[in-house]
Amino acid sequence: MKNFLMLCFVCLIAAATLSDANSSTADKEKCEGIHVRDKFHKKVVIGMGLNRPYQLAYDHHNHKIFFSYNIGKDDEDSFEIGYIEKGHIKHKVLKEVENGFAIAINNNDNVVYFGGSDGIYKLHLKTNDSVTEKILSHQNIWDMFFKHHLYFIVYPSQKLYKYEHSKNKTKPEHQKSIHEKIFQFAIDGDDDKFITNETGLYRIKNGTDHRIFYEGPKIYRAIEIDNKGVAHFSGQNGIFVANKKNDTLEKIAHVKNIFGLAFDSNNNIIYSDPHEIVKLVPEEC
Ligand SMILES: *[C@@H]1O[C@H](CO)[C@@H](O)[C@H](O)[C@H]1NC(C)=O
Ligand SMILES: *[C@@H]1O[C@H](CO)[C@@H](O)[C@H](O)[C@H]1NC(C)=O
Ligand SMILES: *[C@@H]1O[C@H](CO)[C@@H](O)[C@H](O)[C@H]1NC(C)=O
Ligand SMILES: *[C@@H]1O[C@H](CO)[C@@H](O)[C@H](O)[C@H]1NC(C)=O
Ligand SMILES: *[C@@H]1O[C@H](CO)[C@@H](O)[C@H](O)[C@H]1NC(C)=O
Ligand SMILES: *[C@@H]1O[C@H](CO)[C@@H](O)[C@H](O)[C@H]1NC(C)=O
Repeated sequence: MKNFLMLCFVCLIAAATLSDANSSTADKEKCEGIHVRDKFHKKVVIGMGLNRPYQLAYDHHNHKIFFSYNIGKDDEDSFEIGYIEKGHIKHKVLKEVENGFAIAINNNDNVVYFGGSDGIYKLHLKTNDSVTEKILSHQNIWDMFFKHHLYFIVYPSQKLYKYEHSKNKTKPEHQKSIHEKIFQFAIDGDDDKFITNETGLYRIKNGTDHRIFYEGPKIYRAIEIDNKGVAHFSGQNGIFVANKKNDTLEKIAHVKNIFGLAFDSNNNIIYSDPHEIVKLVPEEC
């Protein structure tokens, strides 16, 4: 064990020396990437050694990435909320959120929401000393989405609720228009809604009730709206977008075993796989 550690240490020094001596050569050597819409993107690892990081949310103000990850054994579902600050590789833990799993962010007002097995918590991002405040109890939160309001799906009913603010009162309102048992929910820039259930992905055009089915993966792990209002779906080894002209799903990138998705302030894609969080930067190699 000791020898192994020693060897690692030597390797690290060698690697550091190499990159110092000629960083452009080192960059070339590790220029690993994938194609997004047929354009080469470099993989920049921003988090590593994590157990299934999921539910990514990017804080545009502080350039922090929030995520949930598994802390149980592989067959156990216990989770924790973590985050990585700009320029750091090691993550920190938000201990206050019990079994924290779901995350939604409101980058306009710099507020992030965390959902766990016993409710929803809220955190203001602009101040360093702000504390997580519990805003809802006695609900097991499955997934969350923010656009003008916080939407959340509860477990085990898989029903959608909207967290309504009316003057000085807030209360969760069951969204009866979504009668399905759903896994994910999102609203894009056209105010079209996307839902996923056991059958797959559907779009509900703004102002209609009609469900438009999108042939594609059966299981999705995330729906995220980019900074331009375009919905992106992660599922079955790829990132997909909806072509609304002929209602087909287009695979824009192949990513093996993809989990979460998010977009940074420059609209770069951030994704997670079972061990890493990676940013994709368009760059010649
Ligand atoms: C670094 O690499 C470039 C080309 O990759 C080469 O032109 C340059 O001489 C190298 N510099 C050093 C200090 O090795
Ligand atoms: C928060 O802390 C960081 C460093 O710890 C500092 O750079 C930043 O200015 C602080 N922000 C505020 C609003 O105090
Ligand atoms: C809400 O505000 C109104 C007037 O602004 C007040 O009469 C009412 O008691 C408040 N309700 C609560 C729950 O604080
Ligand atoms: C969605 O529909 C509502 C009313 O049906 C309309 O007011 C709104 O502008 C529409 N949103 C978009 C983005 O077109
Ligand atoms: C998923 O939702 C669609 C659209 O409402 C519905 O037709 C389908 O039966 C649902 N699937 C399941 C398994 O309930
Ligand atoms: C849908 O449109 C896209 C381009 O807009 C095209 O590449 C694709 O083949 C079309 N799909 C079908 C099933 O027509």
